[in-house]
Amino acid sequence: MIIPILAYGDPILKNVSVDIALDLPDLQTLIDDMFDTMNEAGGVGLAAPQIGKNLRLFITDAEGLEKENIKDFKKVFINPVLLEEEGEKWDFNEGCLSIPGIREDISRKQNLRIKYYDRNGQLLEEVYSGVRARIIQHEMDHLNGVLFTDLISPLKKRLLKSKLLNISLGNVEVSYKMRFPVAARKGNR
Ligand code: NI
Repeated sequence: MIIPILAYGDPILKNVSVDIALDLPDLQTLIDDMFDTMNEAGGVGLAAPQIGKNLRLFITDAEGLEKENIKDFKKVFINPVLLEEEGEKWDFNEGCLSIPGIREDISRKQNLRIKYYDRNGQLLEEVYSGVRARIIQHEMDHLNGVLFTDLISPLKKRLLKSKLLNISLGNVEVSYKMRFPVAARKGNR
């Protein structure tokens, strides 16, 4: 089932999410819904807060990232813990399904080591680098209430201010289902 993606400005996106009980009822349905939602929106990652759940869960699938040609990255990360980040910082042009129409170069470290449960409840520890690490870092931030627009310079953020306001108001062209915080408060959606 496709679930509307919360837009920039929704307070749920700013919360620190909590760990999931691995026997949470409907966890598998939630994960399936997240894949349906991400695929429909053409994303390469989606975190549970983006569909209104402050749970420590995100998914990835970067086959859609044509330029990078990343296969076999269809994954579910439950209760992930970043154990280590290292290497040179590098810029990558990030976007976010909750912030349509905006992309910015963000600087992060090359490599990471992460511990997480997969959708079968198996505890894994893995190492990632490059674009895969980048997607994980972006999604991990969502679980801590951090958006990539929180990581840009104050000057750049000022330049984006009206665009960001328009997103939260729903004044943005987007091809997938979203829920806009201001419209939702008014009871319009
Ligand atoms: Ni995002």
